Amino acid sequence: MSASSVPRQVASPLRIAVVGGCGHIGLPLGLLLCDRGHTVTLVDVNAASVKTVSEGKVPFDELGADELLPKCLASGRLKLTLAAESVRDQDVVLVTIGTPVDEYLDPDIRTFDRVIDDVVQWMRDGQLLMIRSTVFPGVTERLARRVADRGIEAQVAYCPERIAQGYALRELTELPQIVSGCSPEAEERATKFFEDLGARVIPLSPVEAELAKLFTNSFRYINFAISNQFYMLAERHSADFGRIYDAVTFDYPRMKGFARSGFAGGPCLLKDTMQLASFNHNLLTLGQNAMMINEGLPRFIVDQLKSKGPLIHSTAGILGMAFKGNCDDPRSSLSYKLRKVLTLECREVLCTDPYIVDPSFVSLDECVAKSDFLILGACHSQYRDLVIDKPVVDVFGFLKKQAIR
Ligand SMILES: NC(=O)c1ccc[n+]([C@@H]2O[C@H](COP(=O)([O-])OP(=O)(O)OC[C@H]3O[C@@H](n4cnc5c(N)ncnc54)[C@H](O)[C@@H]3O)[C@@H](O)[C@H]2O)c1
Repeated sequence: MSASSVPRQVASPLRIAVVGGCGHIGLPLGLLLCDRGHTVTLVDVNAASVKTVSEGKVPFDELGADELLPKCLASGRLKLTLAAESVRDQDVVLVTIGTPVDEYLDPDIRTFDRVIDDVVQWMRDGQLLMIRSTVFPGVTERLARRVADRGIEAQVAYCPERIAQGYALRELTELPQIVSGCSPEAEERATKFFEDLGARVIPLSPVEAELAKLFTNSFRYINFAISNQFYMLAERHSADFGRIYDAVTFDYPRMKGFARSGFAGGPCLLKDTMQLASFNHNLLTLGQNAMMINEGLPRFIVDQLKSKGPLIHSTAGILGMAFKGNCDDPRSSLSYKLRKVLTLECREVLCTDPYIVDPSFVSLDECVAKSDFLILGACHSQYRDLVIDKPVVDVFGFLKKQAIR
């Protein structure tokens, strides 16, 4: 995306608070809204992130954000604060905080409630409270009741975020926006909010919108599990899953949705699949099976290697520790699970990643030179053309090119 292209300006600029405004979802959204003419206050409890962003630095990789942030700060329309009470002065309060699952894989309701209570205590009549975080079914309507119980006449909407991390500034206006409100007025205001940005809008009821987001991520997670299970089956037959993949998807539209195999980590897919399972009497058995398969892939890889010979005297190298390619985010990356399994089995494990600063990591050259074998952990484009004279495990089929004959 070109941050220098002239953005479409909104007809009626609003004062907007983005709670969780320095996070992966809140920051690009806040920047886009500011760039379109709104006055935006990023509210965040992370003092270090608030400081970094105030100084014009984006704390993570986000395409186009490095150029856009200084521009927004210079406009005077972008503010940062640690104080939740700043929501009092806004027309719209957007919530983009993290919504993790707990140690039992249940949604962590208490944390969400606590943040919401912090925010709602400063709200006033006439505001639009828009939830953008991923929440489990029923949360939005419950939230609207909590707001009403406090005697506040505010509108509550749920409009799930569906961008791919790192590409938000481009996708926020390209992707259709699912919009829902707990009242016709809430839906109308949320619709206008996104239409003013030039986005297409799809209206749903709040519970439909909540399910739509969870279905999306669960579908992707289960889809990856199908391919990962097929990968494991192919390996058991000493067959090359990548060659089979290329063969069955070549000029054959009915296999268009077939995912490639590879690590399905990251902060959202597993977490959201478990949110969906948790409040449906754990009936999402497909999702739970998908978790067993996807989370089991690192162990499977190591077992395959062990079946070829002992690893105890070997040095293993992991190429890429981020949860996906060309990304600096290590959250819930399966490369770390792989490192754990390898640490139990090998003499030494070396990790490298061009995007993540970690004193325990080594350079790519050192990792390749000192390892007896390598495992691809993240499909960073720097690795695509690597020539390595050592055994390499590439579950993703990223490093080698297969020709269809
Ligand atoms: N990351 C993605 O690709 C993605 C995509 C779609 C949806 N989502 C959803 O968006 C939500 C946010 O995800 P994220 O990746 O941006 O998380 P994140 O951890 O990067 O950002 C959350 C931010 O909220 C801040 N925060 C926490 N408590 C707060 C409070 N009480 N007041 C103010 N700020 C507070 C944190 O300091 C952090 O900066 C989650 O529900 C996630 O499931 C994420």
